[in-house]
Amino acid sequence: MEHSGERLQKVLAAVGIGSRRVCEDLIADGRITVNGEVAVLGRRVEVDHDVVAIDGAPIPLRADLVHYLLNKPRGVVTTASDPQGRATVVGLVPAEPRVFPVGRLDIDTEGLLLLTNDGALTHQLTHPSFGVEKEYVAEVEGQPGRAAVRALREGVELDDGRTAPAKVSLRPPNVLTLVIHEGRNRQVRRMCEEVGHPVVRLVRTRIGPLQDRRLKPGEWRPLTLDEVRALGQAAAGPR
Ligand code: URA
Repeated sequence: MEHSGERLQKVLAAVGIGSRRVCEDLIADGRITVNGEVAVLGRRVEVDHDVVAIDGAPIPLRADLVHYLLNKPRGVVTTASDPQGRATVVGLVPAEPRVFPVGRLDIDTEGLLLLTNDGALTHQLTHPSFGVEKEYVAEVEGQPGRAAVRALREGVELDDGRTAPAKVSLRPPNVLTLVIHEGRNRQVRRMCEEVGHPVVRLVRTRIGPLQDRRLKPGEWRPLTLDEVRALGQAAAGPR
């Protein structure tokens, strides 16, 4: 079958995978797939439609796509524009190209938030069946005991249903680390409240493979290509 589009090695080189020669070797070694099939040299791809992956991890082919990792400060809302005129997360990153937050952090929640104009990745990351792991550090009221930690681990009954099992650890006396992959509204706050320990401070410290301890509240940085790839792979992985 004749394929339109651009030569695969040229596309791979253009997005920074390596020189043309390196990209040709990657293809020859069978490490590149197009729409799930191992690619052969000479293959052409449409950057808008074809899914190209290296060792199974999708590669972003579009140079117009941007991905920012923001450390959201407390008091900033996770919307593109706020009718009440409050500061928004979109106001903390460059205005052009226009980006949107992936998922939501409550106004009082701090920590890592992804903003992008990559609709496909956003869809993957926010679709309930994909949900990548998210890690939160919660300072809570009181001193959670074993029963509370066990309940959080096993899942707690909320008004919109039982939560999935979570990874939970306690740093005594009152700091919980929770790893969840659901993305329900105010989920961590509601879980902690349900076990008798309302949240005092909540910080998201990881989104799938993304972590950054050096990013200060209000600061952002672009994701590296490796991070975009790792994120795509995490979102595509088995649940
Ligand atoms: N869980 C919450 O309760 N709030 C957030 O912002 C994110 C997760």
